[in-house]
Amino acid sequence: MPDKVIEVRELNFSYRDEPLIENLSFEIYRGEFFGILGPNGAGKSTLLKLMLGFLKPKSGKIMLFGERLEKFSSWRKIGYVPQRFSVERTFTGSVGELLRAIAPKERVGWIIAFLHLENLLKRPFVKLSGGEQQKVLLAMALTSNPEILILDEPMTGLDIHAQEHIQQVLKDLSKERTVVVVSHDVGFIMRNATRILCMGMPFCKVIKPVEFEGMLKELYGLH
Ligand SMILES: Nc1ncnc2c1ncn2[C@@H]1O[C@H](COP(=O)(O)OP(=O)(O)OP(=O)(O)O)[C@@H](O)[C@H]1O
Ligand SMILES: [Mg+2]
Repeated sequence: MPDKVIEVRELNFSYRDEPLIENLSFEIYRGEFFGILGPNGAGKSTLLKLMLGFLKPKSGKIMLFGERLEKFSSWRKIGYVPQRFSVERTFTGSVGELLRAIAPKERVGWIIAFLHLENLLKRPFVKLSGGEQQKVLLAMALTSNPEILILDEPMTGLDIHAQEHIQQVLKDLSKERTVVVVSHDVGFIMRNATRILCMGMPFCKVIKPVEFEGMLKELYGLH
């Protein structure tokens, strides 16, 4: 049996009275490229926040590396790139300074080369464009050499070259670690995912990419 790195059991969550996530169970195995698809407002970002312990479930269980989330403390094993990130007053300093502040020099060197960040190093993070910031956030998530990388719409706001670059980066990263990606790029997920969690139908369901075409209508209400 492959190793389960994330396990979600009978998860329930709501922000208000109305349930958003209902009785959701699935697992993610070591080395998987796990895609999460679904319409706006389906609860994809919320699910990631629950898996990272930022939000508390109403009921249910989340296990990380075989340990209950409440007791889990090896957070360096998990890298997270959020969907939107407010940086206005949080980061001062250049990209190079930011990265070196959180990771050893050798590791930063590798990440800079891997993500082609050389030209951004001396620039203040807050003055970068949205897409440039997105790449730096990915670099920051990689500094702890995480075993699981969780990304919430990593391609949003990137131009076509940057998208292709990040897609290739994620493919390369998935060769040696577990990658969990929320994306609206159905083609990208279908080409790369080992399995896909479809959220926001009358129920949520984990499927293989080949099964996805049949789900499109149900998932997005397309005709
Ligand atoms: N902090 C919050 N308080 C109250 N409601 C929230 C909060 N965050 C999200 N919601 C609501 O919960 C629902 C799910 O939001 P979520 O961000 O998880 O959706 P999503 O699937 O990630 O959507 P998108 O594709 O647009 O990113 C939405 O209706 C949203 O308005
Ligand atoms: Mg979202």
